[in-house]
Amino acid sequence: MVLTLEWKNGGLLLLDQRLLPNQVSYRECRTWAEVADAIREMVVRGAPAIGIAAAFGVALAAGETGDHGRMVSEIRRAIAGLRSTRPTARNLFWALERMEKTVSSAGSDPTGLPRLLLSEARNILAEDIEINRRIGEFGNEVVPDPARILTHCNAGALATGGFGTALGVIRAAAASGKKVSVIADETRPLFQGARLTAWEMREAGIPVKVITDGAAGFFLARKEADLIIVGADRISANGDTANKIGTYSLAILAQAHQVPFYVAAPTSTIDLSLARGDLIPIEERPAEEVETWAGERIVPTGVPVGNPAFDVTPARLITAIITERGLVRPPFEEGIRRIF
Ligand code: MRU
Repeated sequence: MVLTLEWKNGGLLLLDQRLLPNQVSYRECRTWAEVADAIREMVVRGAPAIGIAAAFGVALAAGETGDHGRMVSEIRRAIAGLRSTRPTARNLFWALERMEKTVSSAGSDPTGLPRLLLSEARNILAEDIEINRRIGEFGNEVVPDPARILTHCNAGALATGGFGTALGVIRAAAASGKKVSVIADETRPLFQGARLTAWEMREAGIPVKVITDGAAGFFLARKEADLIIVGADRISANGDTANKIGTYSLAILAQAHQVPFYVAAPTSTIDLSLARGDLIPIEERPAEEVETWAGERIVPTGVPVGNPAFDVTPARLITAIITERGLVRPPFEEGIRRIF
């Protein structure tokens, strides 16, 4: 399976996802600030992968000063810096909260902190892969045989510590012998579907076809997809789900064509502090991502551009949320409370 990130020789190696599918190359981060830049520039992306990378960033911060007196304040500065990289992914804040707890648990003696923080980051990574395997097992129960599965963006091994959430369900279904094929929305403007999901599925030997985002309705109307599975960046307490821009339109199409619409996500993506999806902070990305294509300007100069990275799918459009603790079905508020 593709290695999205790895701790090696005291540094964090990140597969540079901006270069896929044409180049498989790793960027090495040796400081927390380099990790923060990599998250902001989307060298690493996908909510769980962002959280894991940030956790290793905090571990790096602990090693950046030899002065024990300054270590804790340097770590807290790193946590604040990493927190400010991408606002929507709940897993980022969740992972940083775990690292913060580790700092607090060390009390007034920071000597063991570098080791403790690295071990916590490693735990977060190992747990994520295990959690995704469980999401895969639970999700496999709703996948028919054969199944043509439409997905949006990339919620695969590349977006996590490994295996993936939405693509993890697809991997589990394929591994259990079901005949599955994937339709990947290209996912404008950064093409995570065309570049990443298609690459990841091809590497896994799972048949995949790429379509433009606007073509999803065409394929659903022709009954060419049996179900839709997407990932999530943040889920509010009532089940409303923020995910890559275009997910909401897809959910509306799914309802219109009576195609089941599943969200696959670890419980670390669920934000119990937010009652509804309209309270989820939505990242606005640079206009340049929409204005240019292959280095050429495609929007006339002077014309404003909107580039929200995520939208919110209301819970009423979701068939079930697939978590590592099982499937949550409507009414979501109650179901989510139960799994916590
Ligand atoms: O902007 P990105 O590429 O980080 O957005 C990623 C997504 O929208 C994923 O679907 C989500 O983070 C879940 S990844 C398991």
